[in-house]
Amino acid sequence: MERRVVIIGAGISGLLACKYSVEKGFDPMVFEAEDRIGGVWNHTIQSTKLQNVKESYQFSDFDWPAFVQEMFPGHTEVLDYVKSYAQHFNLYPYIKFHSRVISIDYVGESFEEMKTWDLWGGTGMAFGSKGKWHITVLDTETNATEVHQAEFVILCIGRYSGLPNIPELPPSSCSKVSDGKVMHSMEYSDMEKSAAAELIKGKRITIVGSQKSAVDLAVECAEANGVKYPCVMIQRNPHWLLPSDSFLISHLGHLYFSRFAELLLHKPGQNILYWLLATMLSPLRWGISKFSEIYLQWKLPLTKYGLLPRHSFLEDMSSCLIGMLPDKFYDKVEEGSILIKRSQSLRFCKEGLIVDGEDKPISSDLVILATGYKGNQKLKNIFRSSVFQKYLVPSPTSIIPLYRRVIHPRIPQLAVIGYTGSLANLPSFEIRCQWLMHLLDGNFKLPSIGAMEKDTARWEIHMKRYSGRNFWRSCIGTTSIWYNDQLCKDMNCNPRRKKGFLAEWFQPYGPADYASLADQKH
Ligand SMILES: Cc1cc2nc3c(=O)[nH]c(=O)nc-3n(C[C@H](O)[C@H](O)[C@H](O)COP(=O)(O)OP(=O)(O)OC[C@H]3O[C@@H](n4cnc5c(N)ncnc54)[C@H](O)[C@@H]3O)c2cc1C
Ligand SMILES: NC(=O)c1ccc[n+]([C@@H]2O[C@H](COP(=O)([O-])OP(=O)(O)OC[C@H]3O[C@@H](n4cnc5c(N)ncnc54)[C@H](OP(=O)(O)O)[C@@H]3O)[C@@H](O)[C@H]2O)c1
Repeated sequence: MERRVVIIGAGISGLLACKYSVEKGFDPMVFEAEDRIGGVWNHTIQSTKLQNVKESYQFSDFDWPAFVQEMFPGHTEVLDYVKSYAQHFNLYPYIKFHSRVISIDYVGESFEEMKTWDLWGGTGMAFGSKGKWHITVLDTETNATEVHQAEFVILCIGRYSGLPNIPELPPSSCSKVSDGKVMHSMEYSDMEKSAAAELIKGKRITIVGSQKSAVDLAVECAEANGVKYPCVMIQRNPHWLLPSDSFLISHLGHLYFSRFAELLLHKPGQNILYWLLATMLSPLRWGISKFSEIYLQWKLPLTKYGLLPRHSFLEDMSSCLIGMLPDKFYDKVEEGSILIKRSQSLRFCKEGLIVDGEDKPISSDLVILATGYKGNQKLKNIFRSSVFQKYLVPSPTSIIPLYRRVIHPRIPQLAVIGYTGSLANLPSFEIRCQWLMHLLDGNFKLPSIGAMEKDTARWEIHMKRYSGRNFWRSCIGTTSIWYNDQLCKDMNCNPRRKKGFLAEWFQPYGPADYASLADQKH
């Protein structure tokens, strides 16, 4: 039987999938819509930096070059690092650029037949069913389309790119500021740096949103226009953001990413002993979160500006919402070049934007919607079949049910890398690729569809419990060791990766702990 593998996307997750499938002896074809690799790292604003300490955002078998000295490298350094990874592992020959996949369609098995399966693809293995994926690819240079066939598809199309989340406006308001311009942060980030600087210069700018894209943009606008044209940032809900020079950054690993730290949380599929420990240790869990909150309240003028989040630090950690505050953000707030307004809703009018409790519009020449992305919709859109689309997003209140955060129990011969987030995405994409290659190599068989669905349901309950209303972000931020343990067990690798009892329980886990998992044989 043929074992053709197609990978869609050549961002970090696509490159990882490519590298590991080549190592396993596959000859993957990678379709990339753009003319370059690196995905989101090609489309950032000038000030974008890595939000992680670089050692926690690194390929397990390819270190950052010694000349990159910064703790948080800039976007150019990240992109160069990703490119040198692709070069080092000779991945370019596998990538077809200018190739946008318009749709994928599973052909050869009827839905009636598939409904009778107890096992994924009928066999519980990656290859084995008679179905194939038909992949329709648009050549963006010639506008020609071609249909390719593959026995396995790995979707690496990214979650924070491509499809912006544009807030729905009340019907009474006009769709744009008629005297000004409205754009999404994605569009702004796509601009040449000099054109972007020119666009914001001397303008009254309003930014909608207050997460990472918004705060970075606010500082960029404040730097360009100072107090003469203060940048207004409209915040719906405050979140915990960390200053890069804080004590918390250097201790986050010990407080949240060690095996002991995970003992304090309930985990999906835990046994009674783990349940008891997490229950008994819950005061300590609460204390660590509270300590983080008190520290940030002391360090930042959150109360003064009414920016104190109503939810816990742990909730933001569990939802992957702990971002890095750009340098000088509060200096700009203090000097008045950034003004923050809280509002649950907004309306556009001729002069600008109207927020809750204010009659007078915020006069704006430019409104930038830093309102995030529609990752679910983007994933759904690539499937031709409405049945698969429905399987992916069963309801607005469910997360995409991926077993081991990689495969959908009812969509055969397909994997998704890069959808479920963590607080350092690169290493979590990498271990998923290693796990996937063991599956593709036939080293283990998946449990029944029913068992996989039970497992995904447990994870969904877990995410709803710890991430609150942001459960949809599908983040494994605070239980990544527990999650990795399961992948290691499937791969028949020892999940305890450290040397010695103290290191195992109290040292933070990071990328180096999971090097070479894909090579380990049964
Ligand atoms: C500005 C920004 C900064 C970030 N900083 C951090 C950080 O500091 N730390 C962290 O952990 N995470 C960060 N993230 C999250 C980031 O998304 C991941 O870390 C990672 O880079 C995502 O890689 P990816 O390959 O999954 O997706 P992407 O980088 O989005 O790549 C997807 C690729 O697929 C291609 N593609 C999409 N659709 C198609 C199609 N239909 N056909 C063909 N090709 C297609 C795209 O062109 C793109 O090249 C950041 C995200 C953004 C937006
Ligand atoms: N490394 C870096 O420097 C960097 C830079 C940029 C982005 N990133 C990453 O990229 C990803 C996306 O970040 P992002 O900031 O673009 O998006 P995001 O994290 O999804 O944040 C979206 C923001 O928009 C607000 N929002 C959404 N819909 C709204 C509506 N209808 N009305 C008003 N406000 C609305 C949200 O408010 P609520 O909180 O109330 O929902 C939130 O503040 C994240 O993973 C982030 O860490 C990293």
